[in-house]
Amino acid sequence: AFVVTDNCIKCKYTDCVEVCPVDCFHEGPNFLAIDPDECIDCTLCEPECPAKAIYPEDDVPAGQEAFVALNAELAKGWPVLTERKDAPADAAEWDGKPGKLPLLQR
Ligand code: SF4
Ligand code: F3S
Repeated sequence: AFVVTDNCIKCKYTDCVEVCPVDCFHEGPNFLAIDPDECIDCTLCEPECPAKAIYPEDDVPAGQEAFVALNAELAKGWPVLTERKDAPADAAEWDGKPGKLPLLQR
């Protein structure tokens, strides 16, 4: 499955959801998670993310391995999002800031 990683937190651009053919993006307050049981590895979402936050689970950046299990866990409790919506007003300020995991809201 593909995995949403750290840089999505507080950026949440949502461009990714529009291209997913199986609607496996789930929306939380400041992050999106992919349901690994639904993802068919089509690769379409990866280049759509302006924050470059999406990776194949076998290729997540070093130190971000926890996001594999986190996507699975969070996707179970959050509703599906299929239409792009406005990013947070301060998304650009957070884009590229490392170590945002402590800021993840559930
Ligand atoms: Fe959806 Fe394809 Fe991305 Fe998986 S790889 S989350 S199926 S767009
Ligand atoms: Fe997050 Fe990128 Fe989608 S910032 S909401 S994974 S477009």
